[in-house]
Amino acid sequence: MNVTWVMGFPDGNEQGTYLALDMGGTNLRVCEITLTKEKGAFDITQSKYKMPEELRTGTAEELWEYIADCLQQFIETHHGGQELAKLPLGFTFSYPATQEYVDHGILQRWTKGFDIDGVEGQDVVPPLEAILKKRVCIPIILYRHRTNQLQGLPIKVAALINDTTGTLIASAYTDTDMKIGCIFGTGVNAAYMENVGSVPKLAHMNLPADMPVAINCEYGAFDNEHIVLPLTKYDEIIDRDSPRPGQQAFEKMTAGLYLGEIFRLALIDLLETNPGLIFNNQDVSKLRKPYLLDASFLAAIEEDPYENLSETLELFERTLSIRPTFPELEMLRCLAELIGTRAARLSACGVAAICTKKNIDSCHVGADGSVFTKYPHFKARGAQALREILNWAPNEKDKVEILAAEDGSGVGAALIAALTLKRVKAGNLAGIRNMEDMKTLL
Ligand code: BGC
Repeated sequence: MNVTWVMGFPDGNEQGTYLALDMGGTNLRVCEITLTKEKGAFDITQSKYKMPEELRTGTAEELWEYIADCLQQFIETHHGGQELAKLPLGFTFSYPATQEYVDHGILQRWTKGFDIDGVEGQDVVPPLEAILKKRVCIPIILYRHRTNQLQGLPIKVAALINDTTGTLIASAYTDTDMKIGCIFGTGVNAAYMENVGSVPKLAHMNLPADMPVAINCEYGAFDNEHIVLPLTKYDEIIDRDSPRPGQQAFEKMTAGLYLGEIFRLALIDLLETNPGLIFNNQDVSKLRKPYLLDASFLAAIEEDPYENLSETLELFERTLSIRPTFPELEMLRCLAELIGTRAARLSACGVAAICTKKNIDSCHVGADGSVFTKYPHFKARGAQALREILNWAPNEKDKVEILAAEDGSGVGAALIAALTLKRVKAGNLAGIRNMEDMKTLL
């Protein structure tokens, strides 16, 4: 449960131009967002950069250099030759980070298969700012500081943001019933708004008890102790062979990164414990490659519209060079359904837990992530589970509704930067590291 220093919802009147940097899993996205005069409106320009696979397990220096390259390229493309004042940056860093300030965040541990040395336990903002300062854009000098010195990219980190907090704030910008922001994607997590008075970690700061503050739950780490959730042997193998055994227990059962691997491990188990039972006389060597199958593989099986499961057959032939028999195809469909259903129903538990804690009887939940947007039946299965957990009468409509969120890592990040600067202007110092520094962005 990490404090984010996002101290309240937007009111729709936020304005200004902001950069947003989204360091997700597969892509890096840079956006420039202008929150316009019209209430709740914005313009957005964005570029996506593919995150090279090697970067996930490379060095910290390579990571920061790559991020700086992308930001530099964005600035050169969209503002080449212009003299710019510093742009406030909302940096969406979707990993667990403890924050003493809004523009600060110590990475607790990498998740989602990242394993870059020298970042865990460190504040991630200073190395990014240091590298941006070092950059000189030649031949176009972009940033003439007020002292006339020519150096650095015209960017300052105004806020470090978790994707769930971005999702919460972006969704609440256009829908005031939004109380929770969720990601069901490569990783899983949620954020909600708490009162400062209910946060023991903040007791020493003597802030007003009714002041709102967004909490990044990091519930992907729920049950790391392995005492609550019933684990299958496949969950245990996933955990044991992951870069961070013992971490992200809930995430490893529900997130997109792992669904295909759970499926693969179950098949390998069937093959090994019952020789000849499935895929008899077929070459199963391709199936032995860890993480070969991703969640889209399971999604395709669940989506196969044909009674004879011909698309699943084709998928197996194409991806694994295996030709399952019809009973095997039925078993494969059933296995995919079990894994997908378990993920959706467990995901609903996270949302229900927040509603129960906050006594929320009805609200909207803004959700994003590849599993939510692309995995078949995920929404309906989650909604059914919420109904059961929260005990709604059969004739009652869904009181807690999980809806597609607004762009949290783009618009949400810009809004959080805007809300932070609004607080700087108003002299509300809670969670601001260096007021003078922040004032340069006003
Ligand atoms: C991270 C969270 C993030 C979630 C969704 C998890 O692995 O720990 O910080 O919000 O993935 O991206």
